[in-house]
Amino acid sequence: MNIDNQKPFIAGNWKLHKTIPAAIELVKALDEAIMELADAEIVVIPPFTALSEVGKTLQGSTIKIGAQNIFWEEKGAFTGEVSAPMLKDAGCQYAVIGHSERRQFFGETDETVNKKIKAALTHALTPIVCIGESLEEREKGETIDKVDSQIKAGLDGLGKEEMSEIIIAYEPIWAIGTGLTATPAQAEEVHSFIREKLTEKYGNETATCAIILYGGSVKPDNTYSLLKEQNINGALVGGASLEADSFIQIAKESIKAYKEK
Ligand code: PGA
Repeated sequence: MNIDNQKPFIAGNWKLHKTIPAAIELVKALDEAIMELADAEIVVIPPFTALSEVGKTLQGSTIKIGAQNIFWEEKGAFTGEVSAPMLKDAGCQYAVIGHSERRQFFGETDETVNKKIKAALTHALTPIVCIGESLEEREKGETIDKVDSQIKAGLDGLGKEEMSEIIIAYEPIWAIGTGLTATPAQAEEVHSFIREKLTEKYGNETATCAIILYGGSVKPDNTYSLLKEQNINGALVGGASLEADSFIQIAKESIKAYKEK
């Protein structure tokens, strides 16, 4: 299934939050509102421990499930890791790869990101690949170079067919969990650069259909202006995805922005 960006793509990355009962409560509340959100693709990304129960709760729902991480091997002596077949088994359709918190605290590199993308694609999981610059890199004017190098190394060896199954999330590290959001113009500048790079590498059709998300302090009150930008196809939401009301509001704002683009 090739991805396309006809609808806004709104994913809630719960990070290290929610027990199983709390996770079920949240997805039930989201599912109750789903009729109003039909014009968006809605994805929840719970912790591993809740995936399976969330999967059962969402059976028959249009809300999709993603994992926060994935390992590149299928099985073996890799204590603490979770593989693509296991994630499929638990009901996942998406996997976040290379989130900046994983790069920062758990030693992920563009090389591991590349291996994980390949493992996800082999098992028909759609990778949501995170890239973005630190505050220091932005201040030194290195944003574009950083994003460029992450795309180059992260997507190394992947062809057009593969790219048509990959979602990119631009998340400036300085905006994650800080309350500092990139302005729509700052975000759009990087998003349009990413699409340009994808055009160079994979051609117009693949790049035009690509889903490029923005992430970093997305809230109900900044979603509309971000999603109105031409090259922003959705949001990877952290903190504001932990409550049904704010996540639903973000989805509604994104639908409104998309209709008015
Ligand atoms: P935030 O997190 O919305 O809490 O800034 C975004 C993310 O890390 O994906």
